[in-house]
Parts: sequence; C-alpha cells; structure tokens
Amino acid sequence: MTYLSNCEQKTLDFASTFSSSLKGGEVFLLDGTLGSGKSVFIRGIATGLGIKNRLTSPTFVIMKIYSVKKRNSSVKRLIHVDAYRVEAEDLFQIGLQEYLNDPQTAVFIEWGSKVEKKFKKSKINFTKIKIRKVKASASGGNKLSDQERQIIIE
Ligand SMILES: Nc1ncnc2c1ncn2[C@@H]1O[C@H](COP(=O)(O)OP(=O)(O)OP(=O)(O)O)[C@@H](O)[C@H]1O
Ligand SMILES: [Mg+2]
Repeated sequence: MTYLSNCEQKTLDFASTFSSSLKGGEVFLLDGTLGSGKSVFIRGIATGLGIKNRLTSPTFVIMKIYSVKKRNSSVKRLIHVDAYRVEAEDLFQIGLQEYLNDPQTAVFIEWGSKVEKKFKKSKINFTKIKIRKVKASASGGNKLSDQERQIIIE
C-alpha cells in the first residue's frame, strides 16, 4: 500500500487511520532518511490509539512503552523504538523480544533495517514501512513540495 502525503498533518491522519487496522502482535520496521517522518508517523499511530502522552523521540531512551487506554482496542501496548544508535542485540538486551509478536502489543521500530537480519533469524514476523521524501522536480523546490512524502507499507 502506498500513500502520498503532502504535509505533516496528512501523515498524522493517515497513520491514525492506519492504527485502527492494528489487532496486536504486529511489528513494523520503519526506514527513511533523517527527517523523513518516521517519528511523525508513529505519533499518528499513538494518537489513533488514543494515547494522550506526548510522543517524543526515543533516540536517547531507545525504547518507549505506552499503554493503550482505549476500551475497544485489542492493542493494549504501543512500543516505539529508535534503533539509530543501537544494534538488534542491544534491543534484545533491554527486553524488547518479550513484546515482539506479543498479541496485545504493536511495535514500531525506526531505522528498522538495522534489526531486520536478526529478526529474520529469530523468526519474528514484521512488516516494512518505507518513507521517502519525494524530490521536488518540475515544480522546482517550492516549500510545499518539500513536504511531500511517499509512505509505503509493504
Ligand atoms: N508530509 C510530511 N509527513 C511527515 N513529516 C513531514 C511532512 N512534511 C514535512 N514534514 C516534517 O518533516 C519532519 C519529520 O520529522 P521526524 O522526526 O518525524 O523524522 P524522522 O524520520 O523520525 O527522523 P529521524 O531519523 O531523525 O528520527 C518534521 O519536521 C515534519 O514537520
Ligand atoms: Mg525519528
């Protein structure tokens, strides 16, 4: 599935809508360059799940766990990981694996390609999400085209 977003709010809304399809047990590996919108996308997921806490970047925290209060949601927990500065082994060290494919948990990992090999070896089921900045072309570098993002859910 590919979605074309032309501003931050559109990405938030798309992610929020997408969150309603979550059942629990999902693991998403997000990739895209710095500032492509991985964190924004996950913030939209959190909003969609009714999580009120401000979702800050876990770059220094590595892993953040949010509990889903929404009554009718089968997802009880949202985990946001930023693998930028760590390796898969580090994530297993801090206990991530107990949440991977856990039926009540949805896990979103920024810089997911860093953990892909290890996850495959460990038989973790995952879905890749790629976010691409769409290059300003014919329209010639105007401000709006700087905000275009292609969100690909494989
Ligand atoms: N269509 C869009 N969707 C999402 N973000 C957008 C869009 N257009 C512009 N932006 C801006 O791009 C930036 C995305 O930042 P964000 O922190 O989500 O990126 P990131 O991929 O998580 O980066 P990092 O790799 O540093 O963690 C924000 O400043 C946001 O306002
Ligand atoms: Mg980020």
